[in-house]
Amino acid sequence: MKGVLICGGTGSRLKPLTEVTNKSLLPVYDKPLLLYPLQVLFDAGIKEIAVVTGNDHMEQIASFLGSGKRFDCSFTFAVQEKPEGIAQALGLAGEFANGESVCAILGDNIFFDDLSPAIRGFQKGGHIFLKEVPDPQRFGVAQVRGETVVALEEKPKEPKSNLAQTGCYLFDHRCFEVIRSLKPSARGELEITDVSRWYMEQGELSATTLSDEWLDAGTFESLFRAAQLVRERRRS
Ligand code: G1P
Repeated sequence: MKGVLICGGTGSRLKPLTEVTNKSLLPVYDKPLLLYPLQVLFDAGIKEIAVVTGNDHMEQIASFLGSGKRFDCSFTFAVQEKPEGIAQALGLAGEFANGESVCAILGDNIFFDDLSPAIRGFQKGGHIFLKEVPDPQRFGVAQVRGETVVALEEKPKEPKSNLAQTGCYLFDHRCFEVIRSLKPSARGELEITDVSRWYMEQGELSATTLSDEWLDAGTFESLFRAAQLVRERRRS
């Protein structure tokens, strides 16, 4: 399995912090944000990782990460010319994946659960990680029966559950074909939720519901909370 770290978006909710820096390089206590999702890939033994980001920030991100030698892995960099969605960003890693499954993870997501058993055990289809949240309308929202996902909606006004789809996705190689067939959503993006939904429609999407904290550090509050949590956990 290969890894894809997606550091997309413009970070508009974090301006002026993101005026000249990508959100994923902002500090969370003692490390830049993107090292937390990267650690999820490292913990699962993934050594080949594509990093996808926009033109504006590629230089900074590549200069921070380097070849990967320092992390005992190898990085491949791909530029997403326009912020046209997470699925589009993942699509840029198609050649890199070269027929293998991928673990795609968003550069602003911090997980406190250990995802590695699910990642290491993944074989085929799709697998997503869900978390109960108080504000599901901010996220992709799933309904599940047992471990099977039966409905998925991107940022619904009236969510049918409080289970948010977090920013870590396990897909087999078919995801790249699916992405090629996607049409932009109302917000003009290729939605990762549409990729998950394709697997759901094949009856091949399973999910793990997380029990520990999870944060999408895309707002001032969640970025601040992330730093607090990391500090608390580091001390205990
Ligand atoms: C994206 C996905 C959404 C998911 C979220 C997790 O949202 O589209 O389904 O719940 O990441 O962080 P966005 O960051 O584009 O608002």
